[in-house]
Amino acid sequence: MTETANLQGSTTVTGAPAPSDRNSLTLGDTGPILLHDHHFLDQMAHFNRERVPERNVHAKGGGAFGTFETTEDVSAYTKAALFQPGVKTEMLARFSTVAGEQGSPDTWRDPRGFSLKFYTTEGNYDLVGNNTPVFFVRDTMKFPHFIRSQKRRGGTGLRDNDMQWDFWTQTPESAHQVTYLMGDRGVPRSWRHMNGYGSHTFMWVNEAGEKSWIKYHFISDQGVKGLTQASADQIAGEDSDFHRRDLSDAIDRGDFPTWQLHVQVMPYEDAKTYRVNPFDLTKTWSHKDYPLIKVGTMTLDRNPENYFAEIEQAAFEPSAVVPGIGFSPDKMLLGRVFAYADTHRYRIGPNYHQLPVNRAKHTEGQNTYTFDGPMAYDHSGDQPVYAPNTYGRGYSDLTGGVEDGWEADGEMVREAYSLRPEDDDFSQPGALVREVWNDEQRERFVQNVSGHILGGVSDRLLPLVFEYWKNVDPETGKKIEETVTAGKADPPAPHPTEPEGVI
Ligand code: HEM
Repeated sequence: MTETANLQGSTTVTGAPAPSDRNSLTLGDTGPILLHDHHFLDQMAHFNRERVPERNVHAKGGGAFGTFETTEDVSAYTKAALFQPGVKTEMLARFSTVAGEQGSPDTWRDPRGFSLKFYTTEGNYDLVGNNTPVFFVRDTMKFPHFIRSQKRRGGTGLRDNDMQWDFWTQTPESAHQVTYLMGDRGVPRSWRHMNGYGSHTFMWVNEAGEKSWIKYHFISDQGVKGLTQASADQIAGEDSDFHRRDLSDAIDRGDFPTWQLHVQVMPYEDAKTYRVNPFDLTKTWSHKDYPLIKVGTMTLDRNPENYFAEIEQAAFEPSAVVPGIGFSPDKMLLGRVFAYADTHRYRIGPNYHQLPVNRAKHTEGQNTYTFDGPMAYDHSGDQPVYAPNTYGRGYSDLTGGVEDGWEADGEMVREAYSLRPEDDDFSQPGALVREVWNDEQRERFVQNVSGHILGGVSDRLLPLVFEYWKNVDPETGKKIEETVTAGKADPPAPHPTEPEGVI
């Protein structure tokens, strides 16, 4: 906020001079408030409506605007306008925690959302990813159950580690993501110090109609840095907005964070025989098989002018794709293609896409057949509101094969993906623990997992928890069991019922 001389008073919402922002209209100085003080009533009533519901997940976050510049030539893989050499595209990024509410601390252990909206010349492209390349579950059907297990108990309204481990141990496909979560990436130093991943496999289509499967990796130029649990806990108590503040301050001082976008590209046919299911979101692709190919640079250099208008009302949706980019058979991605636009209609309103932060910036030629509804601002005059029509309003009419489609066959079933030769839930997290991490990282991991278990997992679940980690890595699992058992035998003093500092 900048200091300015207050030369002018305020106005009412209808634009007339407002009578007073400090005194209501009363009959005498102690008298009743008068019903025709509309300015007063308007202030009271609008105040009651200042919030929109918070996001059901990823409620706490922050973001900034910037530019994506395609510095390399990847036109062999995609015709998308934003990924052609030299193209610069305005964009918005929003980072978030998953399970907490709007006021929750930024430094809780949780994956971080990494949402990007590119205002391309062909319409908005949204890439709504995380700071880890994998996820907890591999069928959208499980998502609401998973999220509820991470949020609050029905009875007490408290978060509950027992509930979290109950779900995880009953869902072994979670092991890869839980390993990331309990490791050094589980609490980033800041949003600037984390990588971003599209996580799912997406399709790219080039000008000739050739398809590839791709995975997005945004590699932080600030380096990937984390916080220890002790540091994260301390910061959580002192500054719950630590990460939001960090990003805003960095941009204010001109220290603009950047990321280099790379993709892994899998030839279309490879997917049929690759040794792990390339559409399973709990798996990564070997970088030896599919090395990173550079695409361009993302720079964040502008803070929002208004948090509510530009961040709280920002609506990211994996369904927003542009020509040259498509989905894949990943059951999580396909479920998400429905979920986000639906939640925006509820959370913000059915015309959320007309808000300045959400609207496509290059609207020449925009010709949508969605109309009216609450708070409609855009309109198409007296043009036909139906298609087909003979009055000259264009409509789309693709028939036959779609350029971003794939082949599928079989009976309708409710089944998990068929397993491929190396499709098990524990090999990849095991390799992360054994081959990627060093001794210190493994030790911090054991402490983080054990501390979390000691923070409220019931004895009846412990055998399942130990088995889960021994499946990931027998030695690490044994250490977790020993640490938890020692911790149970010598528990820390319980929280005093009467805290220090009561006066
Ligand atoms: C498949 C099951 C999933 C469902 C049904 C789902 C659903 C949702 C919903 C309803 C929201 C709130 C959106 C809003 O109110 O604006 C949300 C936010 C978000 N989700 Fe998911 N999600 C799923 C999986 C994932 C995965 C796998 C990722 C990452 C790879 C992810 C990343 C995010 C992010 C980053 C946000 C915050 C968006 C923002 O910044 O506004 N979600 N999700």
